[in-house]
Amino acid sequence: MRTLISGATCVLPNGLSRANILFDGSKIIDIDPPSTALVDEVVRADGLHLIPGVVDDQVHFREPGLTHKEDLYTATRACAKGGVTSFLEMPNTNPTTITCERLAQKLELAAGKCLVNFGFYIGATPNNVPELIQAKRTPGIKIFIGSSTGDLLVDQQAALEQIFAETTLPICAHCEDETTVRANRDALQGGATYRDHSKIRDERAAVIAVQRSIDLAFRHNHRFHVLHVSTGAETELLRDHRDLITGEACPHHLFFNVDDYDRLGSLVQMNPSIKTAADNAALWTALRDGRLQVIATDHAPHTLDEKRQPYPKSPSGLPAVENSLALMLDSVSRGLCTLDQVVHWMCDAPARVWDLVGKGRIAPNYDADLVLVDLNKSQTIRDAEQETKCGWSPWNGVTLTGWPVRTWVMGQTVFAEGKINEAVRGSEIKFDHSRGGYWKTV
Ligand code: DOR
Repeated sequence: MRTLISGATCVLPNGLSRANILFDGSKIIDIDPPSTALVDEVVRADGLHLIPGVVDDQVHFREPGLTHKEDLYTATRACAKGGVTSFLEMPNTNPTTITCERLAQKLELAAGKCLVNFGFYIGATPNNVPELIQAKRTPGIKIFIGSSTGDLLVDQQAALEQIFAETTLPICAHCEDETTVRANRDALQGGATYRDHSKIRDERAAVIAVQRSIDLAFRHNHRFHVLHVSTGAETELLRDHRDLITGEACPHHLFFNVDDYDRLGSLVQMNPSIKTAADNAALWTALRDGRLQVIATDHAPHTLDEKRQPYPKSPSGLPAVENSLALMLDSVSRGLCTLDQVVHWMCDAPARVWDLVGKGRIAPNYDADLVLVDLNKSQTIRDAEQETKCGWSPWNGVTLTGWPVRTWVMGQTVFAEGKINEAVRGSEIKFDHSRGGYWKTV
């Protein structure tokens, strides 16, 4: 089946251009083909923009084990609607993904349930280095250097040294210093309000853990990705990357700060915590000047009943895959960034950081993971319309300009005219770690 998307302004690797994109089955085969004689379907897209599908490199989809919050099917319905065509999921499910066998089980489960393309990190523990060495079908290793939802934690120096020394897969980490967080928590007797969350998980905790991780990466010459950077102070540490270090920001750290606790309470309780308005601005600056390369969501759903508990019982995490692209397109409409930058941060850069094969670009031989967006469409986010199983969004009631209107996964239309095609299944993402990551690819 050959499809031609005609008349859209396309975000190509060298910039925006009005072009016709031809794909055959799951692969893009030509841009502005000389002849359209053998095309089976023409999609007219005048007035719209075509971008590569979003690659979200940090999500928590809760299956197995926590499926009252979310599962792979509901989460990927949300992805399809939001223009996310590939995701990389974290290991803090139940059971945790800490062995090659569990990784294989998750991949098998995903093949039957996911509407978009899927990949899963392997989680580090203080004593699973042999598994981390053997793992192949994965973007890399996730370390919780600070604890978050679940019980994964590696914060002893000897164990961290061993992981960085003996493994070869790229590593990413949740960077909040456990000792600092515990001391802050004790000083506040556990904390009494949602706002205390940002005092317990403070800037110092983030900075200490990022500094410690970068030091490990440099000494062991090991590729390292700093997940969900939440402070300007951390971005200062990312200036010297030595071709090993990359970092990411999440929409909630760009758009929310401590002033939002009054209005939203635990709905904006996250790990790392949201910080100040100055940190919001500093993260934007770091994205624009290239100290941060990636935007990912850290989609982490909990039910509203769970979230409504008083602090500190309220769990940390919020859902975002269904609105992250629209939030960034709205930022384009507000003049905060360009569409080119959004595609870099959300598509090309994460695909390069994690060595994804065939993802992140509109170019021949790349996968037909594509999203048509309408930069003029205004729509209000409503809890009742969310696809995520948890059924709420911290952006409920917010009107955004710029929305995905059609999504293709490996050449199959998974979302169009407001409807999800639930028969579509994504594919297991392939990784080629010999590429060497973000800094070694152009
Ligand atoms: O707030 C968070 N929730 N941060 C994380 O890193 C984990 C996540 C979760 O899984 O709930």
